[in-house]
Amino acid sequence: MASSSSFPLLPVALLALLVSLQGAIASVPSPLQDFCVADLNSSVLVNGFACKNPANVSADDFFKAAMLDKPRDTTTNKVGSNVTLINVMEIPGLNTLGISIVRVDYAPLGLNPPHTHPRATELFTVVEGTLYAGFVTSNPENKLFSKVLNKGDVFVFPKGLVHFQFNLNPHKPAFAISSLSSQNPGIITIANAVFRSNPPIADDLLAKAFQVDKKIIDLLQA
Ligand code: GLV
Ligand code: MN
Repeated sequence: MASSSSFPLLPVALLALLVSLQGAIASVPSPLQDFCVADLNSSVLVNGFACKNPANVSADDFFKAAMLDKPRDTTTNKVGSNVTLINVMEIPGLNTLGISIVRVDYAPLGLNPPHTHPRATELFTVVEGTLYAGFVTSNPENKLFSKVLNKGDVFVFPKGLVHFQFNLNPHKPAFAISSLSSQNPGIITIANAVFRSNPPIADDLLAKAFQVDKKIIDLLQA
């Protein structure tokens, strides 16, 4: 009798244990030491970079001089924007800490075209100007969340989702600063990935995917 009445408790207890373990697994891993400054020259291959000997670490490993203070040239591409990223390659002290920073400059009517960061959520802050920004959710909804953002406004682009920003002012440049939740967020610009891959994706395949004539694909690939 005793064993039959305690039997249903066992699966419940196991389930509770699994749920609590799941909670632990789903959180961001905590660092196991104060820092792990990237040894960018190490031949050891790990997820990230091997740690530099802490005895050889200095304040300069956590520092980058005046890189985000100046407006960047937005005339070098046809979309009229310029992205300056500071990741673990620029500041080795970011290794294992899950954060990086970016400055984006926009020409008047400049566009930061649709792109995604495979490894980071982005916290976007307008420093100067007025930008139309948005992101699109995954299939099947593909819902657009968009806002007009002014100086001091903050917007979130969730990890992995396609997003963009457009400077609405035809006369003045704009700029923004973002933090990204990875030491190496990565960037996939949608148009480049689809139409400028190396080697190219076959044009008849893309024509079928986009339901347009092959000539249009050839034009886009060119
Ligand atoms: C802005 O979204 C950027 O990642 O440059
Ligand atoms: Mn982005």
